[in-house]
Amino acid sequence: MFHLRLSAFFFCMSVFALAASAQTNPPKPANSQQKPSKPAAPISRSPELTEREAPEAENLDLEAFKPRAIDTSLAPAVIAFGSCNKLDKPQGMWNDVAANNPNLWIWLGDIIYADTNNMRVLAGYYKKLKNEPEYKKLRAKAQIVGIYDDHDYGNNDSGGGYPWKKASKKCLLDFLDVPSNHPARKRDGAYTAYSFGKAPQRIKVIILDTRYNRDTLLPDLSKKSRYLPNLEGDMLGEAQWKWLENELRHSDANLNILCSSIQVLSDEHPYEKWGNFPNCRKRLLNLIVHTKPKNLMIISGDRHMAEVSKMDLQGLPYPLYDFTSSGMTHIRSGTTEANRLRVGDMIVKRNFGLIKVRWEAAKPIVTMEVRGLQNELLQDITVKY
Ligand SMILES: [Fe+2]
Repeated sequence: MFHLRLSAFFFCMSVFALAASAQTNPPKPANSQQKPSKPAAPISRSPELTEREAPEAENLDLEAFKPRAIDTSLAPAVIAFGSCNKLDKPQGMWNDVAANNPNLWIWLGDIIYADTNNMRVLAGYYKKLKNEPEYKKLRAKAQIVGIYDDHDYGNNDSGGGYPWKKASKKCLLDFLDVPSNHPARKRDGAYTAYSFGKAPQRIKVIILDTRYNRDTLLPDLSKKSRYLPNLEGDMLGEAQWKWLENELRHSDANLNILCSSIQVLSDEHPYEKWGNFPNCRKRLLNLIVHTKPKNLMIISGDRHMAEVSKMDLQGLPYPLYDFTSSGMTHIRSGTTEANRLRVGDMIVKRNFGLIKVRWEAAKPIVTMEVRGLQNELLQDITVKY
């Protein structure tokens, strides 16, 4: 009990220190090389947690905030993932997720919608979610890893220029119970990788940080499109590229899951996507081809809909899939969108994703399921690698 109180004390102190430093020190530009950011989008704040209420949200459940390392001894047979979760909307899908007995839950961003520069408010949102009774039940069942997108990292569509990114990264890693000695604590981003289970049925999950070092988006002033392609722009930063190359080249897993908060393959829509940085997207696809990890698939979020995209890459001995699931609590308007790479349907219903893995010796058979309210199966696509 004593150590619990002590760790809670240090946790609260660190959050207050973080919040205080974020509030008292004027933010420095994160990267002086970067072009100036676009004007800040209007901040939309969920009404259920105001700045005044946030400190009260910090002391709700001490046990829920105990750092622990991810147990990688067993390869998960069921991996669930999702994104875009507003706390002022019903959190009604956690029981449906848990009903599938996932061994692992992967957050792909917009875990909460904070849209704030106040780190105490951000931490308060994360803590509120962590104390949602249904989410706690899932936490008791499945290990949880993941990454932020924009609304939980900073503000809408924010990137490497977000001045509070260091503190925001800490809030995310605290939310995910990442121990203080984990290498991600010292990286220039919250990217992580985990290898689960033993060969030949090992599964590696590689989680990218597409915010911390992302260059500036180029708004289309003619308003014909939302963004113009930024041909020189980068998504990851050189340290993360080097880390990613190493993780791919030396992966001994027979199923590799590359996690990106925003879509990699689908690039005909006008919103956030790797396609806004076309050369950077090419660099990622080339890296996959050259490092040749066995049986790699991509998962992504952000879009408030679900779909599966497929691309055949010369030199890669299997088709590359990008399985998007987004919209735990809300969905987009409009039910059509061009995507020449789509297989199956675009699902415009609240959803989460499931990756079910069976093995034939060293070969994975992967079923990508889109599931909705009441655990309804909305689409399933099976790939035999
Ligand atoms: Fe979102």
